[in-house]
Amino acid sequence: MPTRLRIRAYAKVNLGLRVLGRRPDGYHELQTIMQTIGLHDELELEPREGRGGIELEQPRALPVPAEENLVYRAARLFCREHSLQAGLRISLKKGIPVGAGLGGGSSDAAATLAGLNRLFGLNLNVDELARLGAHLGSDVPFFIHGGTCLVEGRGEWVKRLPPLPRYTVVLILPPCRLSTAEVYRRFDVLQGKGDRTYTYTFVEHPRHLRNDLEPAALALAPELARYRDALAALQPEPRAWGLSGSGPAWFALFSTAEKAEAALDALRQELREAELILTGLTDRGYEFI
Ligand code: C5P
Repeated sequence: MPTRLRIRAYAKVNLGLRVLGRRPDGYHELQTIMQTIGLHDELELEPREGRGGIELEQPRALPVPAEENLVYRAARLFCREHSLQAGLRISLKKGIPVGAGLGGGSSDAAATLAGLNRLFGLNLNVDELARLGAHLGSDVPFFIHGGTCLVEGRGEWVKRLPPLPRYTVVLILPPCRLSTAEVYRRFDVLQGKGDRTYTYTFVEHPRHLRNDLEPAALALAPELARYRDALAALQPEPRAWGLSGSGPAWFALFSTAEKAEAALDALRQELREAELILTGLTDRGYEFI
């Protein structure tokens, strides 16, 4: 049994997202393709000799106390489920921006479950880990699988798809943050009012991947339209671009690193307040290092 485990927890983007309806439990029925990317957080898990309980060291800037962090909740759930008495020390280093639509918290939770499975030699399979993950958040089952997946239901139906070509990814991080719950609430309001703005507005740009949450995100943060327009104007690539999840992060896929770097330079001139990140696709949700 390893005594200490280091894990990379990768971020995701949504390569299109359809909201098919509202469920009786308040969640929404989705159909989306999720893709893990190279941007990641880092976790370290270590049993604590002679002491029970979970100790989580997390960056000070995080908006939630350690006990509410999905990492802590994942560890508590895992230990309860498997009647583990051992104490744990966990440290979390963030590379994925919080509240951006890149799935950082869910990925951390999935990596924690997979890490504890390995640390304690329980040999749970992917489906068992994903089932446990669904109790923590809608995106957690996807991160247990990682790579390119069709995700349906609330997020619990995950089907692995063949990997995409080796695209280079440009991420645009506007300085605002959006709450996923609030974006879904706004989606309901727009739809309930019979407001047609929730339908796809960019049919003339087939490279623009449809995300049904985009009009709701734009209603909450109208400044996001500038980013959408800057991406729509890029030539000759990206091959595809869109809003990730409930936003506000945007992404664009390029066939080569050179084309991505040229676009990055152009975007940097125009969107000075945004953080721009160059990364790639990855075929896994987490990785032991
Ligand atoms: O499951 P998770 O905690 O990540 O979801 C955050 C919020 O996003 C939920 O409280 C819910 O408002 C919304 N959501 C939804 N339908 C989904 C996933 C998330 O309405 N399929």
